[in-house]
Amino acid sequence: MDHLVIQGGVPLRGTVRVNGSKNASLPIIAAALLTDEPVIIEGVPDLLDVRTMIAVLEGLGAAVEYDQERALLRIICGELPPAAPSADLVSRMRASFLVLGPLLARKKAVSLPLPGGCAIGTRPVDLHLKGLSAMGASFSIVGGRVEGCTEGLRGARIYLDFPSVGATENIMMAATLARGSTILENAATEPEIVDLANCLNSMGAVVVGAGTAHIRIEGVPRLGGTRHGVIPDRIEAGTLLLAGVITKGDLIVENLLPDHLKSLLAKLTEAGALVEEVGPNAIRAAAGERSAAVDLKTMPYPGFSTDLQPQFMVLLALAEGTGTVTETVFENRFRHVEGLSSMGARIQVEGRRAIVRGQPCLTGAPVVAPDLRGAAALLLAGLAAQGKTELLQAEHLWRGYCSLEERLASLGAQLKRISAEPERALFTGS
Ligand code: UD1
Repeated sequence: MDHLVIQGGVPLRGTVRVNGSKNASLPIIAAALLTDEPVIIEGVPDLLDVRTMIAVLEGLGAAVEYDQERALLRIICGELPPAAPSADLVSRMRASFLVLGPLLARKKAVSLPLPGGCAIGTRPVDLHLKGLSAMGASFSIVGGRVEGCTEGLRGARIYLDFPSVGATENIMMAATLARGSTILENAATEPEIVDLANCLNSMGAVVVGAGTAHIRIEGVPRLGGTRHGVIPDRIEAGTLLLAGVITKGDLIVENLLPDHLKSLLAKLTEAGALVEEVGPNAIRAAAGERSAAVDLKTMPYPGFSTDLQPQFMVLLALAEGTGTVTETVFENRFRHVEGLSSMGARIQVEGRRAIVRGQPCLTGAPVVAPDLRGAAALLLAGLAAQGKTELLQAEHLWRGYCSLEERLASLGAQLKRISAEPERALFTGS
């Protein structure tokens, strides 16, 4: 168990660089299962979730070399013996379920623990299973595991009831090695889907239309190795931009793709922040006077990302006036409200809507991180608050943010990590 002690009230100033995307890296690591040739991935951030995905692949028989300093991952999935990831690994991270499609395509059989629910919602996998069933796979659920098999996947026309990111990725990966064409309608359009498609195409796949709701995949007999660099992490970028504005600082965030952040940039501008592109891949974010309250609704991309909703709520908690946050993607993503309230925020949750009455300031308090992005929100609140905040269960942050304390400290933040276990002990076994 780690906690962070934050001495708030210091405006963050300076320049900070964004790492490679977690949510792009995870499916691309899973995609390495589709070939027996080496897959080299550049820009892979050193995160707990990445370590978990590596452990899942190693458990399946992959040979993995990870050079954290150079953010370089080399994976060879040669002969894959019959193996099944442990429930412990899969329960740590829902994205482990992304090995389902590649394993079915490559091995024709798979046994995976059900990822089950998690803190931010029930998060079922029905869309993954429905799509793969349409391609000729059969599934049974036995003792909390999904047992899947196929005599050979074939292309199909699949309509997703909801544009699920994970289901789009699983189906897209499986379809690359299926017989014939797969048409995926109402597909997710997130930039991470495009990055995965680009990687698959560089392995010899034929994926057309990624980034739109209509993706066509022509199956090929085999895929080869590749070298692929992942896109920058738009959620990390957004969190840092918000940190600049919320602390009334002035930051330049480098190595981001402004196109991926349009909804956040529009909301920041609407709230009165100064946001300007200062280079092709850099944005300056600074606070104007006190931010103005705005209304926010999370949506699948290109709508406002649910992964930035908790962090934006901190801006509203400190804004002039009353704003609302409507969460449409996950049913239980307001768990950060409790911590924010104990820091003096005035937030009323009514079902999927939170009404946030802005206050002139927040005050430091002991708070418990509820989940990854909720932890980021409480960290931002602690950086802006007057006095000391103790963020308990801060290890949620290490799932999605790399060298965070060091980088925030380089911008002036005063914070210290206190580990109850030896340094990096959480990474053991992965
Ligand atoms: C991915 C992201 C996560 C982000 C989310 C939404 C990764 C590793 N994680 O998660 O950070 O918050 O997209 O942008 O990329 N659903 C079903 N049935 C299914 C699948 C999903 O009902 O079979 C529901 C979920 O419960 C949820 C919604 O669809 O309410 C969105 O889930 P999905 O887009 O699948 O998110 P993930 O891929 O799990």
